[in-house]
Amino acid sequence: PQVIFVHPDGRQDAIEIAVGASVMQGATQHGIEEILAECGGNAMCATCHVYVDDEQIGRLVPMSENEDALLDGTAAERQPTSRLACQIEVTPALDGLLVRLPDRQT
Ligand code: FES
Repeated sequence: PQVIFVHPDGRQDAIEIAVGASVMQGATQHGIEEILAECGGNAMCATCHVYVDDEQIGRLVPMSENEDALLDGTAAERQPTSRLACQIEVTPALDGLLVRLPDRQT
């Protein structure tokens, strides 16, 4: 499945990510520098913050309470479509998912 990353300057990168991997893993393996992922995907750091496209947020499974709490501590402003990329597992149904990258993670 492909996930499309939109950088703060508008550039887009469409990246193929394996089913079962997280959006964070796909991003870091392909050099998406806006995703820091300091905790390595353990839902502890909130430096893998992304904004899911408004019209696509309903495609994701709802977030856990822990993710919700962490999103209150993001460096860039939290928005209604904010998610942690390490908590989004790629599935075939998510092909074409578009996420915007915040301008800072710390
Ligand atoms: Fe740390 Fe996602 S990588 S919360």
